[in-house]
Amino acid sequence: MDFKPVRQPEIKYTKLFINNEFVDSVSGKTFPTLNPATGEKICDVQEADKADVDKAVAAAKKAFELGSPYRTMDASARGRLLGKVADLLERDVNYIASLETLDNGKAFALNGSIGDTFFCANVFRYYAGWSDKIQGKTIPVDGSFFAFTRHEPVGVCGQIIPWNYPLLMATWKIAPAIAAGNVVVMKTAEQTPLSALYLASLIKEAGFPPGVVNILSGYGPTAGAALSNHPDVNKVAFTGSTEIGKIVMAAASKDVKRVTLELGGKSPLVVFDDVDVDSVVAQAQEACMTNMGQCCCAGTRTFVHENIYDEFVTKSRELALKRKTGDPFESTTINGPQIDDEQMNKILDLIESGKKEGAKCEAGGERHGDKGYFIKPTVFSDVQDNMRIAKEEIFGPVQQIFKFKTLEEVLERANDTSYGLAAAVFTTDINKALLFSQGIKAGSCWVNCYLAISPQGPFGGFKMSGLGRELGEYGLQNYIEVKNVSIDTTFRRF
Ligand code: NAI
Ligand code: MG
Repeated sequence: MDFKPVRQPEIKYTKLFINNEFVDSVSGKTFPTLNPATGEKICDVQEADKADVDKAVAAAKKAFELGSPYRTMDASARGRLLGKVADLLERDVNYIASLETLDNGKAFALNGSIGDTFFCANVFRYYAGWSDKIQGKTIPVDGSFFAFTRHEPVGVCGQIIPWNYPLLMATWKIAPAIAAGNVVVMKTAEQTPLSALYLASLIKEAGFPPGVVNILSGYGPTAGAALSNHPDVNKVAFTGSTEIGKIVMAAASKDVKRVTLELGGKSPLVVFDDVDVDSVVAQAQEACMTNMGQCCCAGTRTFVHENIYDEFVTKSRELALKRKTGDPFESTTINGPQIDDEQMNKILDLIESGKKEGAKCEAGGERHGDKGYFIKPTVFSDVQDNMRIAKEEIFGPVQQIFKFKTLEEVLERANDTSYGLAAAVFTTDINKALLFSQGIKAGSCWVNCYLAISPQGPFGGFKMSGLGRELGEYGLQNYIEVKNVSIDTTFRRF
């Protein structure tokens, strides 16, 4: 297929999506969304606040009432709705990917917005298949009872997503929630409201009943907090920083809402000396710099065996210098802009700290150009475990290369972090790979690959990287309540 970006896609939807209608905010307030490649405004969108969250939650609650069109719909029909969304995403892939690149800055290419959109279609299709396969058990309990479990939806799900994969994060949350029969109020990230609003239009076009999915643009401390504090929200699903994840979890604790969190990371990628160096240099750099490093599971700590360390560093430097930075709509661009000036400045500050603390900056290490929020692909060698760049989530195209000797040593160092989202090991020795995968404390462990994420497999974090899993069958469990029904079978007279 040939994909041609639309550089200035028409902006069709800027209003809040509540009860299947695009509406103005109660306050009438709007906020701008910017093009990160230029820093210029794309458009203004309606800004949700507490009053809009109240409206959306009320609409969702109504859609979830027993006897409503949604609750009486066959499970298979719910699946067909999800499947229809997958078809519509594929129909409009070119437009959607263009919109995403404009609003987020990621490359348009197959490993950018186009790839994201197809992944979204695959996730909708995967969960479409689950809709009529969520079933309980009959249980041989003690006594004369017929006991069975019902796997019921949790109810109103408040979902808060970040800006790094706007459409993908919306999909990872909406699709399993609907498959399990829930209703959704989603707040998108203030930096990237546009693609989810278009998704809302597809959800309407697919034929979802009003109120089942509601999508709000707005800020975290206002709309986000209103959602995670709302007494009629039964479950909160959050993806973003660990700092805000803790706030969301504390808010949810007031009503003992169900909570799932997908938070930050500082994932290790370990390279032994028995590999093809050229190939692993490329994979390690992609693991770290994909999506401009704005990836929760980015492999930012590259541990390289001492026998190949110097060669690995030299080749990583050469590769980073070739990583084409610039206009994300250009087909040869890999490295687009960071999302905003705040993120760019945070990354530049961490880069400075690395230089000051004595790491060697092999490539990049500064802003690219003076328009937009670009950072040059950056490689640090001679990184020590106690440096800030070794410990803090950078969320930029900044690779740290460390030297190690033994498996035991590298495993201990890889685990010496409060995070535990992902990890990888590159080796041709099956014993080393197995020992590493056993010892590493992370929700995903990739062997001789990275970012092997698919709709069928679970994704999520150990430790401060999160709570619960997304995708796959495991992802459904967070959207299900189990009800145990016991029926007396002695036919007693009352
Ligand atoms: P953030 O955690 O503030 O934002 C994520 C979402 O939470 C957004 O929708 C935001 O509006 C919302 N939010 C913010 N405050 C809230 C509150 N009090 N209550 C409810 N929702 C709230 O992340 P931010 O500030 O955009 O980025 C900061 C750092 O977080 C990044 O540099 C990166 O290290 C990390 N991050 C991690 C992500 C991941 O995928 N795990 C995604 C985005 C950021
Ligand atoms: Mg924030």
